[in-house]
Amino acid sequence: MDVAETIAGVRQHVAAARRRGQRTGLVPTMGALHEGHLSLIRAAREDCSYVVVSIFVNPTQFAPGEDYRQYPRTPQPDLAACRGAGVDLVFAPSVDEMYDPHELTTVHVGGLTEGLCGGHRPGHFDGVTTVVAKLFSIVQPDVAYFGQKDAQQAVVIKKMVADLKFPIEIIVCPTVRDPDGLAISSRNAYLSPEQRRQALVLYQALQMAQREILAGQSEPDTVIRAMRDRITAAGACTIDYIEITDPDTLKPLDSIRGAALIALAVQIGPARLIDNVLVDVTGQPH
Ligand code: PAJ
Repeated sequence: MDVAETIAGVRQHVAAARRRGQRTGLVPTMGALHEGHLSLIRAAREDCSYVVVSIFVNPTQFAPGEDYRQYPRTPQPDLAACRGAGVDLVFAPSVDEMYDPHELTTVHVGGLTEGLCGGHRPGHFDGVTTVVAKLFSIVQPDVAYFGQKDAQQAVVIKKMVADLKFPIEIIVCPTVRDPDGLAISSRNAYLSPEQRRQALVLYQALQMAQREILAGQSEPDTVIRAMRDRITAAGACTIDYIEITDPDTLKPLDSIRGAALIALAVQIGPARLIDNVLVDVTGQPH
């Protein structure tokens, strides 16, 4: 496995892989790798003969006062995990390698970034799309892998790729959960054992909503109210949002008739946790 810290280094390795006729898959991450990330790496390993993982805690997607400084950084275990998963190249740049203090360009995807997490984390998605566009330009992968865990991020990146005509296929992989249902996240490390137990209510509320909708409940407000009650009954927390939207446009639904994304963000103690499920009352896979 090669490790590159510079853009020039990555370009050399990827160009060599392309000359060998290899198909390049990219898995962008912020490190602190866990089973969720590894599922993306495994998907890339299956489809692609050359697998690149980027590890970069991207400062521009954290608002002032968010957890950029505390965000877990575990470079040695991350490299070992990548090696174990058969990764070909890790790109682990410094902030200075990725950002020039004089740059004037950001990538902004409109509309889709206004609701859900975008409404609560101003500037967050501009940071995400700008860094992912840079990674796409640096690595020039054939395919890139993202997790359904960050549903809005995946939709926003697909739109950026379509609008900017990046010749890159985007694959969205299912959310990986701990056996008790909690969606795996680097931020789960912030939770005390008690808070972690409380956090199980998030997926329970999502599953309850899914069941109610499949049983015929088509009123988003009714479903959301029940979820809110369930979550607040489990302990002190701050609900950023609970929304039921169209999975592609991310617009809130007036009534649930086809596919729906049920998404939430809840602050439990020091951790802002997000989770979501898809449901389709027509029984079509989304
Ligand atoms: P990060 O939070 O490290 O996540 C990297 C990728 O792993 C994302 O596509 C995310 O959706 C996916 N992922 C995280 N937890 C997952 C889980 N439990 N199951 C399935 N996939 C999971 O998302 C980012 O980093 C950044 O915003 C990034 C895209 C790298 C840009 O900086």
